[in-house]
Amino acid sequence: MAVDVLLGLQWGDEGKGTIVDYIAPKYDLVVRFQGGPNAGHTLEFNGIKHVLHQIPSGIFHSDIKNVIGNGVVLDAVIFKKEIDALAKFNIDFKKSLFISKKAQLILPSHRLLDAAYEHSKGAAKIGSTLKGIGPTYQDKIARVGIRVGDILSPNFRAKYKALVDQHIAILDYYKYDYNNETFNLTDLEAVFFQAIDFLKTFNLVDSEYFINHEIAQGKTVLAEGAQGSLLDIDFGSYPFVTSSNTMVAGACTGMGISPQKVGEVYGIFKAYATRVGSGPFPSELEDEVGQKMRDIGREYGSTTGRPRRCGWIDLPALKYAIMLNGVSQLLMMKADVLDTFEEIKVCTHYQLENGVVTEHLPYDFAEEKVIPIYKSLKGWNTSLEGVADFDAMPNELKNYIAYLETALNVPINLVSVGPDRSQTLIKQEIVVQ
Ligand code: GDP
Ligand code: IMO
Ligand code: MG
Repeated sequence: MAVDVLLGLQWGDEGKGTIVDYIAPKYDLVVRFQGGPNAGHTLEFNGIKHVLHQIPSGIFHSDIKNVIGNGVVLDAVIFKKEIDALAKFNIDFKKSLFISKKAQLILPSHRLLDAAYEHSKGAAKIGSTLKGIGPTYQDKIARVGIRVGDILSPNFRAKYKALVDQHIAILDYYKYDYNNETFNLTDLEAVFFQAIDFLKTFNLVDSEYFINHEIAQGKTVLAEGAQGSLLDIDFGSYPFVTSSNTMVAGACTGMGISPQKVGEVYGIFKAYATRVGSGPFPSELEDEVGQKMRDIGREYGSTTGRPRRCGWIDLPALKYAIMLNGVSQLLMMKADVLDTFEEIKVCTHYQLENGVVTEHLPYDFAEEKVIPIYKSLKGWNTSLEGVADFDAMPNELKNYIAYLETALNVPINLVSVGPDRSQTLIKQEIVVQ
C-alpha cells in the first residue's frame, strides 16, 4: 500500500487543509510530517470554517486516524487550544489522534528566541510567524532538543531547565528582555506545564512503528505537507524560508517511511500566487491588481492575520517545485478569485540583472533583481458559482488549464472554485492504491 503525499508548490497557503479534508475519506490515516504551529490550514464544510495548526486535516472524519509525525515541532499550549476549539465536534481523540514521541517540543523560550533573532535582523528579518519554529529545529539539529516522549520521564523538568538556561544565556547575549509585558517567561512557563500535563493524556506513540504497521495491514496513508516547496530549508529562497524540508523527502524522514512507499504526489497551487513574510517574489503585484486579488481571495494569514503579498502565477518556480517533488498530479485552487479579471498573466521566464532570460531560479534569488516575463491570457470574466464539473467551465478557464498543463507537463486533476468542500471539481476520480 502506498503513501500519497500532498504538498504546497508555492509559498504556503495554497489550500492544503481544504483538499486534505476533501480527499481524506479515501484514506485510513492522515499524517503531518513537518512544520508546526506556523501552519494554518483552513477547512470549510456545512457552513463551518475551522483553522488547524498542528492537528492533521483529517480530524473531522471519525473513521480516520490522524498522526502528528516525528518531523513536526509541537507547541503543547497551542495544541491544547486547538483541542479545546474542537470540543464542539465531539471527536473521540483516543481513537483518532496519535502523536509521535519523537516530535520535538516547542518551549516558551524557543518563541522568545525567535523574536530575539528576528529583532536582531532588523530590516532583513525573515517575517517569521514567531512560533518558535526555527529555534526548535535548531536545537533538534544541535542534539539538545526535548521530544514529546521526554514529558513522560521523571527527568523532564531537569532537562527542561538545562535547555532553558542555555536559551536565557542566548537571550542575554541578544540583550532581549524576556520578562517584558508581552512575553513574561514565568507566566508562559505556568501555562506550558499545564499544557504538558494535558498532552500526557493523549496517545503518545512510536509513530514510525505505528504508521508502518498500519501500512503492512493494508491501510492507506495521506501525508499532509505544511508550508510550501518555495519555503523549503534547502531549496526555498534561502534565508527567507522555514526551517524544515517541506518536500516529499521530508515526508519520508518526518514519518519514518521508505521512499519506495511513496505513491501519488499531489502538488497543490493557487491559480495565482501569494507569499506572506519577506523574501523574493518576482511576479508580485504591488498595485491595485494585487490588492484586488487580496480582497477577493481574502488573502490574510490564517495563523498571523498578516496581509499576504499577491501576484501572478510563476511558472519557473512551479516547474522547480514539480521537479524537486516528482509531482504526479496537480490541484489548482482558488480559480474563482480570478472571475472578474479580464486578463490573466503568467510569468513564463525571469530576466536576470545581466539580461539573461532564464527559467532557472537563480542561486542568489534573495539578492538578484529578477524581472518577470509574462504571457497574457484572456480571463473568463464570469462567475464560476454553480459550475459543477470540468465540462461546464468557461472556455477561457479551460484554456488556462490546458496552457498550464502543457507548460508544466503534469495533468491538473482538480480545480477548486470556492472554499467549501462542495466547491471542488474533479477531472478524474482519485483512486487510492
Ligand atoms: P493552507 O495553509 O494551504 O491549508 O491554506 P490556508 O488555509 O492558509 O489558505 C487558503 C484559504 O483559501 C483558506 O481561507 C481557504 O478557506 C480558502 N480557499 C480554499 N480553496 C478555495 C477556493 O477554491 N476558492 C476560494 N475563494 N477560497 C478557497
Ligand atoms: P501553511 O502550512 C505561509 C512563512 C513565514 C515566514 C517564513 C518563516 O499554512 O501553508 P517560520 O515561522 O516558519 O519561521 O516562518 O515562512 N511561513 C508560511 N507562509 N504558510 C505557512 O504555512 C507558513 N509557515 C511559515 O511567513 O515568511
Ligand atoms: Mg495556511
